[in-house]
Amino acid sequence: MNCLAVLVSGNGSNLQAIIDACEAGILPETRVSVVVCNHKDAYALVRARNHGIPTIYHPFLPYREEGRSRQEYDADLVRKLSAYPVDLVVQAGWMHILSMAFLRHYPRMLNIHPALPGAFPGMHAIERAYEAFQRGEITDTGVMVHCVPDEGVDSGPVIVQEIVPIYPQDKLEDLEARVHTVEHGLYVRAIAQVLGITPN
Ligand code: GRF
Repeated sequence: MNCLAVLVSGNGSNLQAIIDACEAGILPETRVSVVVCNHKDAYALVRARNHGIPTIYHPFLPYREEGRSRQEYDADLVRKLSAYPVDLVVQAGWMHILSMAFLRHYPRMLNIHPALPGAFPGMHAIERAYEAFQRGEITDTGVMVHCVPDEGVDSGPVIVQEIVPIYPQDKLEDLEARVHTVEHGLYVRAIAQVLGITPN
């Protein structure tokens, strides 16, 4: 059985797509063994509990308030995570840059970025692509899933990518919905590829 640890901070629609793919057998012999979240009110936590998946709530704020480092936060997360079987760590809307204090223990980690490789790293990528389209700077955008070998933001070796068209009549919400739909399929494909399994 392949065990995934999924790291989330918000809505968790990608987490949901991964859980659904495991439960439906689209990702055979694979399950989400634990969900890690750094925001207490994240809807992703509700999604995990709805499927009986254990959760780790690990907020950074207490560390910042006590002057403790990101490395300490990351090392504590490693300790908490070590109670669960984990073959692959999957960042799905996780808003925290993990240091080598985490990565040296979990070198197999993926991230999804709602833009093409090299484009719009960081937050609000869909909105920035939408605005770039309005200015005539780009004709389409995309989604990519990449490995996370270091502290680079949305920049590791690419596993899969897919172009997402932008149409002149699009509102921002239209583009957001189209990008998210592509994300949900692409992340499942990327996980299968990295685990060396054929998705059903
Ligand atoms: C996704 O667009 C993902 O690419 C980005 O953050 C968003 C998370 O959405 N990194 P959700 O929480 O999975 O719904």
